[in-house]
Amino acid sequence: MKSKHWMIRAGEPLENHPFILEAAEAIKKGETVAFPTETVYGLGANAFSDVAVNRIFTAKGRPSDNPLIIHIYDQLQMEELVAEIPDLARQLFNAFAPGPLTLVLKSNGRISRLATAGLESVGIRIPNHPVAIALLKSCGLPLAAPSANVSGKPSPTQAAHVLEDLDGRIAGVLDGGETGVGVESTVLDLTVSPPMILRPGGISREQIEEVIGKTAVDPALEQKAIHAPRSPGMKYTHYAPKAPLWLVEERSIEEMRARLLSEAINLREKGERVGIITTAEGEMIYRDHDDAKNPFVIKRCGHRENMNSVARELYHVLRSFDHTEVSIILSEVFPYSGIGAAIMNRLNKAAGGRRL
Ligand code: TXA
Ligand code: MG
Repeated sequence: MKSKHWMIRAGEPLENHPFILEAAEAIKKGETVAFPTETVYGLGANAFSDVAVNRIFTAKGRPSDNPLIIHIYDQLQMEELVAEIPDLARQLFNAFAPGPLTLVLKSNGRISRLATAGLESVGIRIPNHPVAIALLKSCGLPLAAPSANVSGKPSPTQAAHVLEDLDGRIAGVLDGGETGVGVESTVLDLTVSPPMILRPGGISREQIEEVIGKTAVDPALEQKAIHAPRSPGMKYTHYAPKAPLWLVEERSIEEMRARLLSEAINLREKGERVGIITTAEGEMIYRDHDDAKNPFVIKRCGHRENMNSVARELYHVLRSFDHTEVSIILSEVFPYSGIGAAIMNRLNKAAGGRRL
């Protein structure tokens, strides 16, 4: 069965839109539907139904011990799902919802146990995308929705990425164009004190601390972590292109680029087909040393001076190498502050920790 491709054009009225209604009907029948959020595309299903949620795990090939985020359209809907709503949750959602922040709260047990992977807690977020909100309102159900990619691959930031991975395995995809943030939501655990970031994402630690003060970060996210991460999803290799990815780190940007270039030239001489991840600012340095006989595949990932643009393009860039013949990919690194923490977390995972 081919999956439906429901194209929604910018500016179209969404209330009673025939494609939203069709997608909502599919959800109500227990099927899975991919939809855009402000971060990445999600693969949604009725969060109350074991049968529907199980279809998500099957379509993605997702390990069953990795819980799903539950999407709702407003704070009122949260009361159906959690045992209690701490003040901190109110403060955070007042500040950042709708938006790329997932709060882990005590579950009241109503959500499918498959969705929570048997945990006593549930991760909840309110996405900031008109198509997502229209779908949530139209079906009237909370949607369990992980990123709409095959497990292990980079998350989808376009409907085409979703179909590349999941065509024939899902009812359809609502196509709302490119997502904006480009990396997933921040996952913040409010069942512990102080609250702990389990996954860095679209809302930075700095932004969270402005609202609630001291916030911990799961020690497993540190580079040389020895403990398994608390967020089940963070222990898996993820976001990885097919060719091995290596990160190149040096004391300054100039040294990093010089080092990356000399490694790339060495590898080329050994017959490797080298991919390079850089930004608009660095591109020419590598192009100037290109060789028509065995050209570098140079991908520009946004502008370093605007880290949001790097986040927005990261997954598309990682995915795009799979359509080339590269045998190895070298990437520049970025500062860990602000959205940089999420970018570096994803790059480190995509590289499986490999550094030059
Ligand atoms: O931006 C996003 O969050 C996207 C869009 C579609 O909303 N969704 C997303 O879902 O990234 P997924 O399944 O790819 O990642 C969910 C993450 C995993 O790392 C999972 O372990 C964690 O959230 N998580 C979910 N529920 C949790 C819980 N109760 N306790 C701890 N971690 C949880
Ligand atoms: Mg994911």
